[in-house]
Amino acid sequence: MATEPPSLAFVFGTRPEIIKCAPLIREAERRGMPFTLVHTGQHYSRELDDVFFEGLGLPVPDYELRVGSDTPGRQTGSMVSALDPVVTDVDPDVVVVHGDTNSTLAGAITTCKLDPALAHVEAGLRSFDRSMPEEHNRVLTDHAADYLFAPTERARRQLAEEGIEAGVWVTGNTVVDAVRQHADIAARESDVLDRLGLDDREFLLLTAHRAENVDDETRFRNVLEGVAAAAADNDLDCVFPAHPRSVGRIREFHIDIPAPIRVVDPEDFLSFLLLEDRAAVVVTDSGGVQEEAAVLGTPCVTVRDNTERQETVEIGANRLAGTDPEDIRQSVAEALSAPTDWEPPYGDGHAAERILDVLQEVGDGDD
Ligand code: UD1
Ligand code: UDP
Repeated sequence: MATEPPSLAFVFGTRPEIIKCAPLIREAERRGMPFTLVHTGQHYSRELDDVFFEGLGLPVPDYELRVGSDTPGRQTGSMVSALDPVVTDVDPDVVVVHGDTNSTLAGAITTCKLDPALAHVEAGLRSFDRSMPEEHNRVLTDHAADYLFAPTERARRQLAEEGIEAGVWVTGNTVVDAVRQHADIAARESDVLDRLGLDDREFLLLTAHRAENVDDETRFRNVLEGVAAAAADNDLDCVFPAHPRSVGRIREFHIDIPAPIRVVDPEDFLSFLLLEDRAAVVVTDSGGVQEEAAVLGTPCVTVRDNTERQETVEIGANRLAGTDPEDIRQSVAEALSAPTDWEPPYGDGHAAERILDVLQEVGDGDD
């Protein structure tokens, strides 16, 4: 007798979760696995949200909780309150959450109080920096999850060190699936280089949005000063597609952006991928951007004191510079002169298939 595929609910709320869930949603569609999309509304501005549903061809979410921005505790609490009746009504076999945002944690808390199993995609990452909200979110979610999809062996070992051995699978990261599925389309369809007047390998791509960087005036100013100097040293143009949090801080701190940095609006995924692919070097504090640069073969400098993407540092694709302007200059110089023939660390672009192979075996749809 044929068994029914298990039902899934994807809970997400921010730009990186939408991008990295897209390969899973597509694969679930392809397999005819029933799923429900639940958007918390943590991100709501068009350029952080709708633009990705349209660009990635994703179905409109079944539930939009519209929690919006708030203090971290209130935002997470509002999401749990709003998720509880939805997960209760939908009653999927598995709730799937991704990464380390407040939406991820809210999905985890809600699910472990109810019947469905909890699956955590991108499990086992650690910065070992408890001052970052993301570190709490990922640790708590891992310890609540029934199914843990670790992108690398290193992540699996970290989970084992914390006593989590059952329910762990090493799958690669769905970011590789997303890059592979879109890089060629980006090269064909995006006009971003012309639109921004950029030439291949003659610009530095900057993103900075982490609370610990941009909410701290000194750190944010240091990053901008270091990046501007590094671009000038190497005769590079420089674009900074700025997250709304960063735009807010630039205004609040009355920061004059130093030349040659140009602040531009956030780009859609295809255009941003093309920028990452064609940049001479990427400077960032983003998790997803560190990974994508490593996949695309573009050297990266990370303006943080630590990273949970340590694999990228080990292979020479990424350098941890902190936020001291001189250290940023030096790291960019090193990145520009080092070889870029590393072996990408996050898998072969089939992570979504592996994850759904595992979830397909969950129950028989009858609880
Ligand atoms: C969140 C995640 C971070 C992730 C990032 C992805 C947490 C704790 N942080 O940070 O890990 O890297 O998303 O981009 O979950 N805002 C808008 N429009 C929006 C959303 C936010 O203008 O659509 C502004 C608001 O002023 C808001 C601020 O950005 O207060 C911060 O938003 P929030 O969702 O709290 O955190 P992010 O910085 O986006
Ligand atoms: N990204 C994008 N447009 C931009 C900046 C980033 O599409 O202007 C994508 C990027 O390709 C990556 C993801 O957003 O897939 C990273 O998200 P973000 O830096 O906001 O969050 P993090 O990964 O740090 O949690």
